[in-house]
Amino acid sequence: MIDIKHLGDHVGESVTVRGWVEATRGHGKVAFVVTRDGTGTVQGVLVKSQVDEETWEVRGTLTQECLVSVTGLVKEDARAPGGYELELSALEMLSPSDEYPIQPKEHGVDFLLDHRHLWLRSSMQRAGLKVRAEVSQAIHDYFYQNDFVRIDSPILTGAIGEHAGTLFATDYFGENAYLAQTGQLYVEAACPAFKKVYCFGPTFRAEKSKTRRHLTEFWMIEPEVAFADSDDNMRLQEDFVSYIVGRAIENCADELQILERDVSKLEKIKAPFPRLSYTEAVEVLNKKGSDVEWGADLGATDEAALMEDYELPLFVYNYPKGAKAFYMKENPDDPRTVLCNDLLAPEGYGEIIGGSQREDDLARLTHRIHEEGLPEAAYSWYLDLRRFGSFPHSGFGLGLERTVGWITGRHHIREMIPFPRLMNRLYP
Ligand code: 4AD
Ligand code: MG
Repeated sequence: MIDIKHLGDHVGESVTVRGWVEATRGHGKVAFVVTRDGTGTVQGVLVKSQVDEETWEVRGTLTQECLVSVTGLVKEDARAPGGYELELSALEMLSPSDEYPIQPKEHGVDFLLDHRHLWLRSSMQRAGLKVRAEVSQAIHDYFYQNDFVRIDSPILTGAIGEHAGTLFATDYFGENAYLAQTGQLYVEAACPAFKKVYCFGPTFRAEKSKTRRHLTEFWMIEPEVAFADSDDNMRLQEDFVSYIVGRAIENCADELQILERDVSKLEKIKAPFPRLSYTEAVEVLNKKGSDVEWGADLGATDEAALMEDYELPLFVYNYPKGAKAFYMKENPDDPRTVLCNDLLAPEGYGEIIGGSQREDDLARLTHRIHEEGLPEAAYSWYLDLRRFGSFPHSGFGLGLERTVGWITGRHHIREMIPFPRLMNRLYP
């Protein structure tokens, strides 16, 4: 048995492939069987006069997604998808398939999500998840090549990482535990041990919003760097994002084509990226007719309006303190703001990164914890990082599904994760 993706090494030989039937067609004397084995798809041609009666009969029993074994001569054929065709000599049904619910026609998205375990087999879904896998690998490679040490942060935690509003709480032997909203506080602790670190894991937010960019479980990549200021942080982000987009272009050409992605737009994604302060962004938005007031966080529509003018991702930096999390460092030049940035992706995709320089002053950080009404006891260890050799440091979080959504040109991030968790979805 060989993998379909290796057919090219076997032209002129007889090979056996095992896989699932995507489609069958046929008329009187010739039948076509399209088989997918997870490494590729190949069309087999069955000619009645060239096979025995039994084999020809099997053809009539094939249904979409039944499992078969096909044996045949590998022929080069430029018109065939994948470039090769099999001249079948044997066809065996290994496992039948009930009437397959996903047909080559339009289905409603709820129907497709209810059948996510089967929908994964469809070509667009396969392409999207392949890009996700490439981007994940590119992320690990980037950090490895740049001397970052990977730190796995805990999923169960007693400290609220971002905001109290979106926590999944669970009983932990009589104590309150939360599913991690972020690994950030823990990678901060690892900085004095390794200087440059990152975590890459699932994060959880009880988002009560049903938007196309919110999941309740999503994967986040969070680097943290000792001695980096907010400016260094943005430089790392633009270099990192340019690298992972480049890797997708380089290694996922076929997938991006299946997804009908305009790759020329991605080819422009090279550092440096433009920057706009939050205050400037509000002015631009007001000129465009938005009634957003200084002090409010920017919503999805504001981000989309801002991005009308950009083909590259845009940094919006130094937001008002009240709009952002407690751990961000106060801006010494304008204490109403913090040293932070969001990175907004073009083409309407909006925020893919949130990052900041961290508050390294013990008194100010303690004050912010109180101001936000967070329980100081749960942060005692975090405050220790400011008691034992406090150091300037910065980091950011990149949302994997939002980033892959942008790279693949798909607007619903629920397709960018194998099994999406949404406010109204825990199945399958
Ligand atoms: O801006 P956020 O909330 O930042 C943090 O969590 C920081 N602790 C990161 C850090 O500095 N280490 O989230 C970061 C990114 C967002 O820009 C977005 O891409 C993604 O995580 N994200 C979500 N993705 C999908 N569904 C959700 N509900 C998301 N919430 C955030
Ligand atoms: Mg954010």
